[in-house]
Amino acid sequence: MRIEYLGHACFLLEDAGVKILIDPFLTGNQLAAKTAGEVEADYIFVTHGHDDHLGDTYAIAKRTGATVYAVVEFADGPMAEQGIKTAKGNIGGRQKTPFGSVKFFPAAHGSGVPGALACGYVFEIGGKKVYHAGDTGLIAEMSLLADERIDVALLPIGDFFTMGPEDAVKAAEMIAPKCVIPMHYDTFPVIKQNPDDYKKVVEDKGICEVKVLSPGGSLEIY
Ligand code: NI
Ligand code: MN
Repeated sequence: MRIEYLGHACFLLEDAGVKILIDPFLTGNQLAAKTAGEVEADYIFVTHGHDDHLGDTYAIAKRTGATVYAVVEFADGPMAEQGIKTAKGNIGGRQKTPFGSVKFFPAAHGSGVPGALACGYVFEIGGKKVYHAGDTGLIAEMSLLADERIDVALLPIGDFFTMGPEDAVKAAEMIAPKCVIPMHYDTFPVIKQNPDDYKKVVEDKGICEVKVLSPGGSLEIY
């Protein structure tokens, strides 16, 4: 599987020709590695309705025909009016998908959609597990992810709107993945961070490897 970082909280997971796009905030993100007009997707997962996550979802879904996943109130609410293919789930539920499976995981954050909850996702694709935390503060539930044996955890470190580096170290400890890729930093002045400082702390503690990706950078896992 190839994990490509497109900037902010946007990642493209690619395995066996299937493209899974998460939180495609590209237009308006000066650090984005791709434009909304060029990114390809078979599935789009949206963690919550804030602009820096919903982003270009509707435009990309309309152009590519991708199916968009979100929590029930979001998928059946604002998304249903867009004339796009949607799929839904809710916190704690795992469902089979054409590429493997996905579990909707709790996130402590506003959803931006009345009645909806913000979420993270645990993807299983080609026998590998990737956790995208979405926007969230540090939550005790993350320790439950240790049982999932996560290969790669995508964790926010920006602080201000989400957990910052210190709490993201604790999150890495609780989740115990093989690797963390930090996200949700540097896009705006208030979330400026040095991801290499975070990497050093996590690796010096012997928690796991941290792979710092610049937008456009990618990691291949087998
Ligand atoms: Ni948010
Ligand atoms: Mn955000």
